[in-house]
Amino acid sequence: MGEKNRQWVLARRPDGHRYADAVELVDGETPDLADGEVLVRNIYFSLDAGTRMWMGPREDSYSPATPLGSPVVSTVLGSVVASRHPDFRSGDLVRAYGQWSDFSVVRPDEVYAERVTRRLADPRQHLGVFGANGWTAYLGVLEYGAAQPGETFVVSAASGVTGALAGQIAKLHGCRVVGITGSAAKSAWLTGELGFDAAIDRGAGDLERALRETCPGGVDVYFDNVGGPVLDSVLGNMALFGRIALCGLLVHYDHDEALPGPARFDQILMKRLTVRGFFSPDFYHRGPDLNRSMRPWYDEGKLRMAFDVTPGIENTLDAYAKLFTGDKIGKSLVQVSDPDD
Ligand SMILES: NC(=O)c1ccc[n+]([C@@H]2O[C@H](COP(=O)([O-])OP(=O)(O)OC[C@H]3O[C@@H](n4cnc5c(N)ncnc54)[C@H](OP(=O)(O)O)[C@@H]3O)[C@@H](O)[C@H]2O)c1
Repeated sequence: MGEKNRQWVLARRPDGHRYADAVELVDGETPDLADGEVLVRNIYFSLDAGTRMWMGPREDSYSPATPLGSPVVSTVLGSVVASRHPDFRSGDLVRAYGQWSDFSVVRPDEVYAERVTRRLADPRQHLGVFGANGWTAYLGVLEYGAAQPGETFVVSAASGVTGALAGQIAKLHGCRVVGITGSAAKSAWLTGELGFDAAIDRGAGDLERALRETCPGGVDVYFDNVGGPVLDSVLGNMALFGRIALCGLLVHYDHDEALPGPARFDQILMKRLTVRGFFSPDFYHRGPDLNRSMRPWYDEGKLRMAFDVTPGIENTLDAYAKLFTGDKIGKSLVQVSDPDD
């Protein structure tokens, strides 16, 4: 007899932004493990905008759509409670691809799973600075965006986890950093708490003009998390030979068809821009090295991340909606058990 395990299951393909109708919270039990499997009691699971895309119906994203009837997949941080894998033991703390559920069944030989230290003062940072978002921010700034000290660096969804980390990393690297965000309060957080040089409230008026005024020499590196109209406003302000690190297209994810655009595609030629897309599973294997690179900044208090933690698996959809309304700051997590259990 397994333990009680509630899971969010994809029951049907969503219709646009009505993804809440597509998932159901189902009561179940933990299964018997097969060889190579690990059972993890989730402490936190991650809420990611890309999850909406994987609900389908699009089949042309960077990951296949989640099969109907399957649990919703996400990264989790949790404790191993049973293992039939030689590299994982009961009591290990792991960060892994798991499920929106009380317990995750993890297959480390098929999908990403890694033992992580319990000696981090705030274990949530295994899903923040020292997880996929941190690695994406780091490489997006330094390799894909090839930011150089002294350059003007602009990032969208700047109060979200990846954007906030990317901006801080660019600043630590010597760039002038401008965040595009969703409110005056978030702008104040970016400039006051995180040390951004400037922030623009994208809802406050003409974004293209605000960028022109804030970045008079043009934008050397744009770290794009959203696509859509924000990307068009930045494209009109790129500097000659600028780079666009294309991390995410958040405004596209709840569309059934690919959105046309960008409208200012011509600027890629006119400004001789380089546009590079990137996807974190391609560099998960570099995670330990990237964590070592970021650790001194973190220990010195120079690289920080706020968390928006929602307790209770039953509250997942309310918490998830905040990714798209922007009614939160930092990394969004659902907490389903106590870290000390
Ligand atoms: N390539 C990769 O491997 C990879 C890895 C991780 C994440 N990503 C992508 O990075 C992007 C950000 O993800 P995240 O997890 O860092 O963010 P997040 O913490 O989920 O935050 C999402 C943020 O997006 C902004 N936003 C929401 N609706 C918007 C809209 N209509 N227009 C413009 N901005 C909007 C809001 O921030 P503001 O209020 O500050 O604007 C919101 O807080 C997503 O597109 C995600 O898919 C990609």
